[in-house]
Amino acid sequence: MFPSNFTWGAATSSYQIEGAHTADGKSDSIWDVFCRKDGRIKDGTIGDQACEHYERYADDVQLMKRLGLAAYRFSIAWTRVVPDGVGAVNQAGLDFYDRLVDELCEAGITPFPTLYHWDLPHCLHLDGGWTNRNTALAFADYSSAVIDRLGDRISTWTTLNEPFVSANHGYVTGEHAPGHTSRAEGFAASHHLMLGHGLAGERVRASAPDSRLAIVLNFTPIAPATASEADAEAAHHQNNLENRWYIDPLAGNGYPEDTAAHHSWDQSEVLDGDLEIISAPIDLLGINYYTRSFVSADDSYEVPDGTPCNTMGWEIHPPSLGWLLRDLDERYDFPSLLITENGAPMPDEVKEDGRVRDDDRLNYIRDHLAEVHSAMEDGVPVEGYLVWSLFDNFEWAWGYGPRFGIVEVDFETQKRTPKKSAEWFAEAIKTNQISFD
Ligand code: GCO
Repeated sequence: MFPSNFTWGAATSSYQIEGAHTADGKSDSIWDVFCRKDGRIKDGTIGDQACEHYERYADDVQLMKRLGLAAYRFSIAWTRVVPDGVGAVNQAGLDFYDRLVDELCEAGITPFPTLYHWDLPHCLHLDGGWTNRNTALAFADYSSAVIDRLGDRISTWTTLNEPFVSANHGYVTGEHAPGHTSRAEGFAASHHLMLGHGLAGERVRASAPDSRLAIVLNFTPIAPATASEADAEAAHHQNNLENRWYIDPLAGNGYPEDTAAHHSWDQSEVLDGDLEIISAPIDLLGINYYTRSFVSADDSYEVPDGTPCNTMGWEIHPPSLGWLLRDLDERYDFPSLLITENGAPMPDEVKEDGRVRDDDRLNYIRDHLAEVHSAMEDGVPVEGYLVWSLFDNFEWAWGYGPRFGIVEVDFETQKRTPKKSAEWFAEAIKTNQISFD
């Protein structure tokens, strides 16, 4: 059994499900522009329609209610709220989130909004995006507009989703919008994202003093691929970049110095006082976990044949989640942890009766929940588990290929059909425990 106040829920993000890419004054985000460039998205698709959640939100909330979700994590599109990135607030864009939040509250589901899940206004990108310090200031102003409108119904505000992915995939590897490939830009972006978190956090504290402040980070436990010294060093720096770069400054430890030096980052973007702003206490740390990884200095490591993997080739390794939770609890002192994403894309064959019997996904969720439970028994303060994702949706650079949903979406008809994993999850919620039958 999980504790009676354990929070069960599901997560999505704006660009991945909303569609309605020009509705009610919305401007282009970096993703609207990136997807239109040849070769950036594996299957050549785009999020213009996605799950049409912008129109279908009321039915979608009813579906969440039928599944028994206690919390729903979604993100707010900056481009709907402040289409020019800075300045005038577009009330018509905020109206959508106002309606969504009302609908959720009426259904007895806790709305759990994230202020930034990667869809930066394109106009801000033209001024340097996250490499420009002004973007952090603009993010705080946009956050204020959202808090002022929705704050009376929100108990936890999350600033950023996975700043590592925004900075790394967006500015270093280029696989995500805006598609740049510069290590220096990546470092500048990482700091301005964290500054944005800190400044938006100040707005939460000032305007919504009764609500909690959170950030969502992704973690991938990393080990060296071999016992060689070169692999150990490569793994050490990768671990710093991926797993410690954001949590360390949050915890007041600054950026990992040796890795900054290793990559010749002089931290010139870090101005006096920034690290204090970033390390102001938060109430809750959101944890996204999918897989572990092995690192080799020459990049030659491949997941061995026969290793259980999801359809994106990520190893399925539930014990790493248990290890991660205990490790975070030991090293840091955050008052509460929440699994804000965990889930898997699987082959999802639709049977003749129109149903997906996704035992593989069900097992993935169940085995990870078992790890959460066991870490909690060891005293790790985990308050809940939000599955990624409620719906099959637009999986960024992969397009609509990988299906993460516990609810199947037919993108031709927009029909939603709960998969077997959704039924299992609903039962777990109802009984407050996981079944292994
Ligand atoms: C992330 C994002 C999600 C992804 C999911 C699967 O964690 O990367 O928050 O938007 O869709 O993680 O890649």
